[in-house]
Amino acid sequence: MQHDSHNKPFTFRSARPADAPRLAELSSQLGYPATAQEIRRRLAALARARAQRVLVAVQGGEVVAWMHVGLRRSLEMAPCAEVVALVVDAAVRRAGIGRALLARAEAWARARALPVILVRSNILRGEAHAFYEALGYRRMKTQHVYQKTLCS
Ligand SMILES: CC(C)(COP(=O)(O)OP(=O)(O)OC[C@H]1O[C@@H](n2cnc3c(N)ncnc32)[C@H](O)[C@@H]1OP(=O)(O)O)[C@@H](O)C(=O)NCCC(=O)NCCS
Repeated sequence: MQHDSHNKPFTFRSARPADAPRLAELSSQLGYPATAQEIRRRLAALARARAQRVLVAVQGGEVVAWMHVGLRRSLEMAPCAEVVALVVDAAVRRAGIGRALLARAEAWARARALPVILVRSNILRGEAHAFYEALGYRRMKTQHVYQKTLCS
């Protein structure tokens, strides 16, 4: 158990299906609205997939943050870890929860002998950039993301 700067204890564990409604709320805060049912389905698929982990932070019995870290494989790069998503409830930010979750992602990567961890962050997320840079992450490049809808 760890204590945040306001001395309220928080703990970490793997996400469970019953967390889905709360994960969905926090996903909206991240800018990705989703229903609890969608989150439950995606969580189940991630649980079946290789080398994917969804962790939550719990404070006062409530899930206040979640993070998805996973193995990223490609032909052009050595396997590495990717923080696919991370969100801390706006009500409890700047209390060390994001830092503690990211430390767990790094430990997860080290345990798999993955030498690099990366995260992609929208250029609009100034606070997230300050967060990652404070924790030793270096900006490598800025990209455009293209998407095409194939069925509706
Ligand atoms: C980015 C985010 C996950 C950070 O979580 P957090 O729990 O608030 O971060 P921490 O309290 O662990 O911060 C650790 C350090 O990062 C830096 N930092 C964090 N938020 C910051 C901010 N808004 N401005 C400047 N520096 C910041 C500070 O150095 C901080 O240490 P300090 O509080 O002792 O000064 C959180 O703000 C969030 O969920 N934002 C919305 C979603 C998002 O952008 N997610 C990232 C997607 S790529």
